[in-house]
Amino acid sequence: MTVTRRHVLKSAAALAVLPTLARSEPHVMTARAGAQLIAPPGFPETRVWGFDGRVPGPAIRVKQGRRLSRRLRNELQQATSVHWHGVRIDNAMDGVPGLTQHAVSTGQEFDYEFALRDAGTYWYHAHNRSVEQVARGLYGPLIVEEPEAPDVDQDLTLMLDDWRLDPETAQIAEDFDNGHDLSHAGRLGNLVTVNGSFDPVFPVKRHERVRLRLINASNARIYDLGLDGLVGWIVALDGMPLTDPIAIEGTFPLAPAQRADLMVDVVAEAGGTASLVSRERDGAFGLVRLRIAGQASSAPRAGVQPLPPNPLPEIPDLDGIPRHRMTLEGGAMRWLDSARLGDVELSGRELAQLGRFWALNGYAERPDDPFLDATIGSRHRIAFVNETAFPHAMHLHGHHFRLILPDGSLGPWRDTVLIERGETREIAMVTDNPGNWLLHCHMLGHAASGMMSWFRVT
Ligand code: C2O
Ligand code: CU
Repeated sequence: MTVTRRHVLKSAAALAVLPTLARSEPHVMTARAGAQLIAPPGFPETRVWGFDGRVPGPAIRVKQGRRLSRRLRNELQQATSVHWHGVRIDNAMDGVPGLTQHAVSTGQEFDYEFALRDAGTYWYHAHNRSVEQVARGLYGPLIVEEPEAPDVDQDLTLMLDDWRLDPETAQIAEDFDNGHDLSHAGRLGNLVTVNGSFDPVFPVKRHERVRLRLINASNARIYDLGLDGLVGWIVALDGMPLTDPIAIEGTFPLAPAQRADLMVDVVAEAGGTASLVSRERDGAFGLVRLRIAGQASSAPRAGVQPLPPNPLPEIPDLDGIPRHRMTLEGGAMRWLDSARLGDVELSGRELAQLGRFWALNGYAERPDDPFLDATIGSRHRIAFVNETAFPHAMHLHGHHFRLILPDGSLGPWRDTVLIERGETREIAMVTDNPGNWLLHCHMLGHAASGMMSWFRVT
């Protein structure tokens, strides 16, 4: 009797304790210094900052609809935070110091825990002093898997970055606040890497279908990407599936923070090499090599299926949606006459002395009042009017939006829109996620030198 009873109690206790233990065991990601080979072989290792000391940080894969939890531990000599770029997240988990949380100081921790409603390709990166911290390597991929994986032979994440390294020592040039970069195109590097390596090689077979998840983690570089030895389609942009995949002919742009999911078929001959190519002024360069070892089948797969849609809000048409305007001003060649810091109006020259070169609707830093005060569930149109002499990649937190195409129809869902110099791009969105959300240029030097605003959803 006694034995049985004790046994029962023990089991019950064990049952009660085990799941709690399992749940309270946090997954830790540590922001810390590390060293790895970034430059071509023969160069020394580069000292980086990375999540778990690596660049990119650990690849996080979660099934759609599940929750993700990570405990950030900061072992850097600088405060940091993590932003989960492109995730329609709970505001408190958005990782923006001064708006949604305090920056996590050296030796401190912060627990992130949130649901992933949408499948697709996202990424995470530091959001404190991003112009330095992202350039040093504090980023990684976040992949949210469809409940049923699409039919592919391989699923490859390719995270693009460009580094400014000293050509002798291969160490990161520490001129993050260089006024010339801030006031021009931003911090452009002298070495482009994929997944933290120069010109990496991946094995494939002829006629394989490969899903390529491209993520641009560069501070400022806009890539113009193409395929060599591959044919394929763009099936998702900024994580969100396209209803009609786009066949790739020629090149397509990928601005900082943007993602593109491709389905590609390997068509080059066995024994050869296929590549993802970056077209630049002085030619086309391979970014990765897909080395073709053998043949998977006698012919490539035919056609492509769209990915299953995500549960995005509806925008049936544009009738009666209020219009807002955000003017992008400043930078080299169009210098600011004046702009505001809080309540104070300063001249362009005074602002330049403070390292501020750009303004959004007349403010050269995040204003006290939001650019837009929106009710939950309301629809809005925002026109980004680029009066500067440079392109910008405007990113909204916590929401995706639809591009309004020149003919007035609704284009793809995105979270970051590239606006060329002199151009106006309009977007439509439903403000369906409550909280305080940042809106900024993802050329991180531009954000640091004035291109920062926010909107509120209540
Ligand atoms: Cu990836 Cu505030 O951004
Ligand atoms: Cu910009």
